[in-house]
Amino acid sequence: MSRVTKNPIASLQGRSLLTPHDLSDREFLGLLKLAAQLKRKKERGTLGTLLRGKQLALIFEKLSTRTRCAASVATADEGGRAEYLSAREIHLGKKESTADTARVLGRMFDGILYRGYRQETVELLAQHSGVPVWNGLTDTEHPTQALADIFTVQEAFGRMRGLKLVYVGDGRNNVASSLMVGCAMAGINFVNCIPPELAPTPESLARASVIARRNRCTIDVVHAPALAVRGAHVVYTDVWVSMGEEAQEDARIQLLRPYQVNMALMRHTGNLQNGKVMFLHCLPAFHNHATETTAVSGALEVTDEVFEASFSKVFDLAENRMHTMKAIFVASLTGGGRKPRRRT
Ligand code: CP
Ligand code: NVA
Repeated sequence: MSRVTKNPIASLQGRSLLTPHDLSDREFLGLLKLAAQLKRKKERGTLGTLLRGKQLALIFEKLSTRTRCAASVATADEGGRAEYLSAREIHLGKKESTADTARVLGRMFDGILYRGYRQETVELLAQHSGVPVWNGLTDTEHPTQALADIFTVQEAFGRMRGLKLVYVGDGRNNVASSLMVGCAMAGINFVNCIPPELAPTPESLARASVIARRNRCTIDVVHAPALAVRGAHVVYTDVWVSMGEEAQEDARIQLLRPYQVNMALMRHTGNLQNGKVMFLHCLPAFHNHATETTAVSGALEVTDEVFEASFSKVFDLAENRMHTMKAIFVASLTGGGRKPRRRT
């Protein structure tokens, strides 16, 4: 019989988080619990020392508001220090291979958060740095987002098992892929509502379905939005054009127009009147506004009405990125809440 430790995340000490598949169900749930404890601690105004003496490198090839700030604030709250490294300003992948950069950073830092394009890059960093590496978003995965997503659902409903979450839109992007696995680990029924052209790979569906079966929940792919959202407790969407896909913008918008989250779609859940449905978006979102930097204006994936509704919990989710990121750092660097040993 295998030995079951009391602390479900002690096993995470020294480990990387590159995809949600790196976690067992028990570790995933343990991280949610630790995040809740750390959130309460912060709400009491208590700053901690769990990351005292820890130096984190934050490498960003792509833009970020939430992930970058969540990582910086989470580290500082627990007495550590985070160094932001724009990939444009370091040698990574240009004058120096990813493996060499990893070996250098691993000599100086206790952990590395990476946001960028290729999943292979975050894997190389983990392989060569000798310290925990966390995926802060690649083209294919966004595991720290998925933890915050599920945390926010649990916080709102007080439970996870038996809930139905419907992801509407680009259902094979990084956010959707990681969220599908997170739902399976949490026992949440996941519906991927997508046009056939944007279906997740059969391999990723099969792999997540194994986890779902273990936790007695389901993963379904549905193409008709009104049908997909029936009975939903959570309607989730993300941008239609992810970072790095700008060249496909026009075609993608045409394809996904029928998948916009608007009040008509929210009414199809049947849960709007009884207050049993919430809307989530990882943000940033295109909701009836023009920005200075894109040619796109007006609502794309979500209307202003839904975005600003009382059932929209998008800013709770944004805040929770910080509490859950803190849990990940604490677990990887200390095993889950133990005070760090003094360095000799
Ligand atoms: N949701 C998310 O990852 O946001 P940022 O791109 O601002 O980090
Ligand atoms: N799918 C989006 C997520 C942004 C947080 C992107 O990759 O741009």
